[in-house]
Amino acid sequence: MSPVKHLVSLDDISAEEVHALFERVDELLEARSSGKTVTPLRGKTLAMIFRKPSTRTRISFHVGMKELGGDSIILREDEIQIGRGETIADTARVLSRYVDGVMIRTFDPADVEGLARFGSIPVINGLTDLEHPCQVLTDLYTIRQRFPGGRGPEWTDCGIAYVGDGNNVANSWLLAAGKLGLRFSLAAPRAHPANPDIIRRARDLASASGAKIKIGNNPEEAVREAHVIYTDTWFSMGAEKERADRLSRFEGFQVNAGLLALADPEAIVMHCLPAHRGEEITDEVMDGPQSVVFDQAENRLHVQKGILVEVMANDPEEGMH
Ligand code: CP
Repeated sequence: MSPVKHLVSLDDISAEEVHALFERVDELLEARSSGKTVTPLRGKTLAMIFRKPSTRTRISFHVGMKELGGDSIILREDEIQIGRGETIADTARVLSRYVDGVMIRTFDPADVEGLARFGSIPVINGLTDLEHPCQVLTDLYTIRQRFPGGRGPEWTDCGIAYVGDGNNVANSWLLAAGKLGLRFSLAAPRAHPANPDIIRRARDLASASGAKIKIGNNPEEAVREAHVIYTDTWFSMGAEKERADRLSRFEGFQVNAGLLALADPEAIVMHCLPAHRGEEITDEVMDGPQSVVFDQAENRLHVQKGILVEVMANDPEEGMH
């Protein structure tokens, strides 16, 4: 029997697998644009557990399963027994008897690891406090669409600057940069760094891949000549109660026209959304010609369809050609 495939961390996927995934996403997108129905997940069901709110993740996985011929069930924490203390291990064992895969959005990464360990079906991390791998795979695909090579740089040669909170998205970005050998610069306030274990792991990956990873606290240095400027909210889910303190610590980290002017003139601006307009990003930049934030949001659907096919399909090639 083939081993169950999971996407628990960006560390689970090799550079070769990322490139293969993106080719699969190209095929799915081409089929969708030409009106061709591709249903490799016919008869399969994805359970989606939400211990935190979501707009993009929830809708894109639901629509993605439908487009691939499968079905999905949305399970809010307060509607299932996890909310009343049933263990993740028992939940994993039970779900494995009913459905063909599970996507979970939660606080503690141990929930995702537990589902993978105690269940016998594929598990996808739909965001934890530590990582957001589906988001960053989508972001990489969006950069690849914008920088296909030719006149400008190839996407893997782009300078990428992440400005803001060293949060779950930043952590997944560090792992992605290390894996794929990217030029990645993180500027986060000293009080809000990325996870130290992830930084160590990204540096180890970088010594093998040749990635150039810089970690500092100066947004202007980070964005100088960058091709991609990335930001995220300063208030990840759960951090809202520290509002006043955080606002003062993030002073100078806003992505605005002045910061954008220091980057490459062809630079794109990315945000995984939801945005707090006027805080980490101005309206002018978010709605401006260099912003790709809504392409990014759309691509959650296409890239996650690719992920679903890779981890859940009996035959990922079914109906592709
Ligand atoms: N970027 C992201 O994960 O969006 P949602 O929180 O709306 O799912």
